[in-house]
Amino acid sequence: MDKSATYNDKVVRQFSIMVVIWGIVGMLVGVIIAAQLIWPALNFDLPFLTYARLRPLHTNAVIFAFGGSALFATSYYVVQRTCHVRLAFDKLAAFTFWGWQLVILLAAITLPLGITQSKEYAELEWPIDLLIAVVWVSYAIVFFGTIAKRRIKHIYVANWFYGAFIITVAVLHIFNNLAVPVSLTKSYSIYTGVVDGMMQWWYGHNAVGFFLTAGFLGMMYYFVPKQAGRPVYSYRLSVVHFWSLIAVYMWAGPHHLHYTSLPDWAQTLGMVFSVVLLAPSWGGMINGIMTLSGAWHKLRSDPILKFMIVSLSFYGMSTFEGPMMSIKTVNALSHYTDWTIGHVHSGALGWVAMMTIGTMYCLIPRLYNKEAMYSTKLIDVHFWTSTIGVVLYAVALWVAGITQGLMWRAVNADGTLTYSFVESLKATYPYYGLRLIGGLLFFSGMFIMAYNVWKTISDKKPVPVAVLEPA
Ligand code: HEM
Ligand code: HEM
Repeated sequence: MDKSATYNDKVVRQFSIMVVIWGIVGMLVGVIIAAQLIWPALNFDLPFLTYARLRPLHTNAVIFAFGGSALFATSYYVVQRTCHVRLAFDKLAAFTFWGWQLVILLAAITLPLGITQSKEYAELEWPIDLLIAVVWVSYAIVFFGTIAKRRIKHIYVANWFYGAFIITVAVLHIFNNLAVPVSLTKSYSIYTGVVDGMMQWWYGHNAVGFFLTAGFLGMMYYFVPKQAGRPVYSYRLSVVHFWSLIAVYMWAGPHHLHYTSLPDWAQTLGMVFSVVLLAPSWGGMINGIMTLSGAWHKLRSDPILKFMIVSLSFYGMSTFEGPMMSIKTVNALSHYTDWTIGHVHSGALGWVAMMTIGTMYCLIPRLYNKEAMYSTKLIDVHFWTSTIGVVLYAVALWVAGITQGLMWRAVNADGTLTYSFVESLKATYPYYGLRLIGGLLFFSGMFIMAYNVWKTISDKKPVPVAVLEPA
């Protein structure tokens, strides 16, 4: 069967290549801001290179450009393969690719210029927000349109996760960004005071829950079994995992607002739901890891599986850490410290980026009709640079964070503070150095990937028909 006539893989290929490119760009900005925290002079007194402007550029580039492209690519691939039909609406699918790239380009221009709504992870101003809404609705039409014309009655669990991610992100984006424009580049949120805070973290936490988690779980449910050559460990568990995860996530947002003017009962509610969230999260992790039952030996020779399993381990770790940090007394120590940043990156680098990288190595040869990636050895080297990189990053900031928290709360017998703020900053510097080294390692791995991908794609060797993947 000629696959290209059956499936729309062009848009999948386009998004996949952008994953590698945006990964490099986003992590480069991450490395620059990590260096600026050690050497502030690295902003060269240029407004567009200041930390305050590059930080949102980093978060937007890694989450929405790198992560977003991976989610578009894999969801389009998976929905076609599991429904046995071509994507609905080819032109609309192409529009989602170009529209999303335009959003990213506009973000890359406006954020360094200081044009921002000042809402974390929702910094982009209203004209770009409108474009995002249009692209996202088109994405939903393509995805659910494909589900609607499926030839397989059953809807595979990966599609449930992708579907929930698409619907929820639309709702979050629209409601969090309701604003009154005063000019092309400035608007004011319709929410004020504590309601604004509540909206923001309802959005922010569910951006983590649905953009950085549910979508990537969809990826996990298709590509881990594919790479392991084994069925999902428990289909029943995956259904329980799905419904419990989406039911609980929505309520956990207030853990970002502990000890603020948000009513106390709402903070406690957020804490309780966050602790409960451990169960569905670990259900998913266990389902992913146990999919390797009977195939553990493959870990010895398959670095792609290693990426996926280490990713799932980080998922388990960060979803244990998160509920713990949600407990008010723990949050009293961790909030405002680098512990939060350590937690973020054990999720973002360990879980999200490593699952994305493993999946891309699994997907790219299939998209270009190649037997395998150009070099398995290079994938292995990439695996080790990433793993050592993320461990250095996370460990450095855990130690830094707890040190900061303890120094800030230390008091002398007479009630005065034991340490000045500057002393805690000085104590943090060595860990910032270690984080930079970890970040540089992770970042350098992306170049190894880019080289490997390029060599794979440009390889002219004909591939035996038997290798071409069946539907
Ligand atoms: C080479 C890799 C990376 C490096 C060196 C890096 C570095 C940084 C730095 C220095 C910050 C600011 C921390 C602060 O304000 O104290 C940051 C924030 C952040 N990064 Fe990264 N990053 C990397 C990769 C990623 C990836 C791949 C993701 C997501 C998939 C990500 C998501 C985030 C998020 C969400 C924040 C904001 C955290 C918060 O506000 O609590 N980063 N990163
Ligand atoms: C059961 C799952 C999880 C829970 C209950 C949880 C809980 C928390 C808590 C309590 C904080 C600190 C809030 C604060 O003190 O300001 C936090 C921050 C954060 N977490 Fe998680 N977490 C979970 C999983 C994850 C995962 C898997 C990721 C990434 C993929 C992630 C990304 C983030 C980000 C980006 C922030 C920083 C938000 C900000 O202040 O800008 N979390 N999380």
